[in-house]
Amino acid sequence: MQKVLFVCLGNICRSPMAQAIFQNKITQLGLEDDWECDSAGTGGYHIGDQPDHRTLQVLKENKIDFAHKSRKLVISDLEFFDHILVMDHSNWEDTARILEAKKETISMVLDYDPEAEFTDVPDPYYGNIDDFRLVYKILDKAISSFIDHLDLK
Ligand code: 4NP
Repeated sequence: MQKVLFVCLGNICRSPMAQAIFQNKITQLGLEDDWECDSAGTGGYHIGDQPDHRTLQVLKENKIDFAHKSRKLVISDLEFFDHILVMDHSNWEDTARILEAKKETISMVLDYDPEAEFTDVPDPYYGNIDDFRLVYKILDKAISSFIDHLDLK
């Protein structure tokens, strides 16, 4: 069993969307018994909350059913997960600090997309539904590249 953790700030917009996209792709590959995936936030503002309704709407538009309860990143996540992927530079700093880990042990999700035009997945929280649709597009491409990088096939 390999384990992947996606991390953002609130664990209600970007990282749950990334988790849902990853799980959906892994299921389509028939590999769901080999992979465990979760998401967490560096801030604790929304602990126990469902994903933002706009994240759920965009997932639904892409025929992905998903449920998750927001949780905060904890130090034991470093030992438990084989891959830890964050959304932006600020998450990267915060994650390294919370996990007491070297920044090199944590990846930025867009590092896996060689064609990405930016390095940070933009935070859509104060935006509108189109900002969430853009985040979906960015994550869908980067996660496909991440899965290719895993070389599972
Ligand atoms: P996320 O978005 O990090 O993609 O889940 C945010 C959610 C909540 C807040 C900020 C970003 N907030 O400040 O409450």
